[in-house]
Parts: sequence; structure tokens; C-alpha cells
Amino acid sequence: MTLTPTAPATPEAPFQAPATTTNGSGNTVTSGPLDGRPVGRAMIPARAYTGQAEFDAEQQSIFSSGWVWAGFAHWVANPGDVKPLTVGGSPLLMIRGEDGELRVFHNSCRHRGMALTEEPIQVTQRIQCAYHCWSYHLDGSLAVAPYFKRERRTNPDKDIQAQLSLLPVVSEVWAGMVFVNLAADPSDPDRRSLADLVAPLQQRWSHIDFDRIHLAQERDFDIDANWKLVVENFLDWYHLPFIHPQVGSVAASLDIDDVVMERDIVGGCYPRGAAGKAKKTEQQLPWLGDVPEAMLERQDIFCVFPNALLFLEADWFQVIGFDPIAPDHTVEHMAIFVDRAAANEDFGPAIKRLCEVLYEVNEQDMPILHKLQTGRRSPGSDRTYLVPQWDQVTAFFQQRVAEKAGY
Ligand code: FES
Ligand SMILES: [Fe+2]
Repeated sequence: MTLTPTAPATPEAPFQAPATTTNGSGNTVTSGPLDGRPVGRAMIPARAYTGQAEFDAEQQSIFSSGWVWAGFAHWVANPGDVKPLTVGGSPLLMIRGEDGELRVFHNSCRHRGMALTEEPIQVTQRIQCAYHCWSYHLDGSLAVAPYFKRERRTNPDKDIQAQLSLLPVVSEVWAGMVFVNLAADPSDPDRRSLADLVAPLQQRWSHIDFDRIHLAQERDFDIDANWKLVVENFLDWYHLPFIHPQVGSVAASLDIDDVVMERDIVGGCYPRGAAGKAKKTEQQLPWLGDVPEAMLERQDIFCVFPNALLFLEADWFQVIGFDPIAPDHTVEHMAIFVDRAAANEDFGPAIKRLCEVLYEVNEQDMPILHKLQTGRRSPGSDRTYLVPQWDQVTAFFQQRVAEKAGY
């Protein structure tokens, strides 16, 4: 038994890759939604960043309508690991089964709907509800419902019991990340797979065996800004020399190409110089796979809509996934991965330095995000001007938000 899917069934037209030009500095600039747009016409109204009603509506229209980042596979590394999550306002449970499979369920006991846990826990073979002690196998099936017929040693009849499994949520793991799709029907074999969604990235990064990635460090950041500002800030190449001196000289930090691959995968690429490499570490870490020559000095930055930000260099991979908590509150979960060959103490100092720099860069954005959020309360924020030469990638993201949320 599954929940009724809420997805609109109409398939979207194939995405047409936008035209690009090469500017005077040799960088790729994409065309996009800003072409011909009047000055002072924001693509998303300011209320979308501040209003509770808009936030609540986006939890449905954006976070419960398709694939979204939900967490990291290493959060449930071992059989019996259980991690509660919230996606689109829905409480979920991520469970590693005894068969090693990672599964996601609605966090609601099938008896009276109590959440099974609000904290990460480790269980042996079964997870038990604390109210009337129904217990579930790690694959979600109901194991025992004590005194079910008001007598000792009674359980539900088999046909009832079979209908009382934890309700599954469609989930898939890719590159160490767990994505869920709350709108998809788990019993529909024709639903869009995550693999299909991320195929352009998988192809671009085909030299990497993501089974080899090793968690170097992770950290959470509390941000007092709307989730869309978090994404937009990561897609904003223009601010880099002004806020992040580590990235290098002005010329180096603005040496970036726009890359728009799909409606749901937009970003950019530093083609040369690996964006401030020297500051990150003096010691070379083992490559992530057989890195092609053209990618040795490259840094890729992509958003997988709506809430995963992916960064890749030859020797490290960083993911920032985030939870929208309130109109002005977002929690970022940052994880930094290296190749498993770097998982020994020889590389300890280099990994430590790499992580310090990545954290430092992220911290530098916190006051910016705070002030962006403050500014969204101004009526002036409906009259902003995204610059076509810089902000087409942000505009693609905003266009996707607007079409899903109906702005
Ligand atoms: S609510 Fe879970 S056993 Fe009753
Ligand atoms: Fe920044």
C-alpha cells in the first residue's frame, strides 16, 4: 500500500540547451531568461523570500513534487541505523536494512501515526514504536503488534498485517547522497529515476567511481536566510572576488564559464587554475578517478534543483544539501569527500587544510545572506536587476522556481 502520489502527470517538453557566446575574457556566457527582460523587473517577487504562505506552498510545489536531496548515505552507514529527516514538511525515516539496502519511509506508525523516532538511533533487527509497542522489520514490514486482539500472543491476521508496513518513499542513492521523490508512486515502474535526472552530471563525471569516495569531514551551518538566496548566492560568480579573496586574483576568480545542462542542473565551471588551489593545500591528494587532462585544473559548481549544490575538483568533491526550515531560516549540511586512497594519516594535514578553506569560504557568505534576507523586506526588492552578462544561471534557477511555485 502506498500514499496517493500528488505529482502532475503531464511530462515536460525536452529541454532546449541555451545558446552561448564567448566573451572578451574567453569565458562562456549563456543566453537565458534575462534576454530582453526590462530593467528593474525581478523574476521572483520579494514576498517569495519572506512570506510564510509562500514558504508553505513551496514545500508542496517544489519540495514534494519531484526528486529532492534528502541527506547523505553515510548518515545510516550500518544495518540498523535509523535517521529521521524532514522533506517538504513531511517527517521521514532513513533506515539501513539488514540486507545493506538504504530505504526511506514516512515516519508515522501505522497504528496511531506516532513518529517512530525524532533522533538518530541504532536498532537491532526491528524498530519499535514507543506508544503501543508495534515493531517493524528494517524493510518496513510490520513484525509484531502485541495484544492486537486484546489477548496475549495475538497478532493481526496475515492479510491485515501485510497492509500495515511502514509507508515507503521513493528514494535513490547517488554519489553518496540520498534523494527522495515524495510525488512518485513506489509501485510505478515507469516513474522518472534519479539516474535519468542526474545523467548529464554522471556523464560529465564518468571518470569517477563514486563508490570510492570517502567522507573527509562534514559540518552543518545555520543560515538566517531563505533557501532560494542560498542557491542564488552559490550561482553568483560575480561576488567571488569581492567576498572570497582565497579564490585568487580578481581575474582568476572571474574566470568562470556558465554551464546550463538541464532545467534542474545549472551551474558553472572554472576551467583553469582550480580556483584558489594554492590556498587549499600544498599537498596533492589522490585524484578522484582517472581524471581527464582537460579536467585536472577544473572546478565544477552545480545546483541539482532544488536543494543540492555540488562542487568537484580533481581531488575533492563537496556537497551542500539543505533543509528549508522557515522563510528566513535554512540549514546547510556540508560534506567534503576525497578518494579512499586519501583516507590515511599521510593526507591528514592536507585534508584538514582543504576543509578549513571550504568552511572559511562558506562562513564569508553568512553576513551576505543575512543582509540579502533583510533587503528582501524592502519593496525595492521587487525592482532588482539581474545582469544578463552575469546572472543568467541564477535566472534559470529562478525561472524553475517560478514555474513550479506559480510565481
Ligand atoms: S501508535 Fe505506534 S503502536 Fe500505537
Ligand atoms: Fe560566496
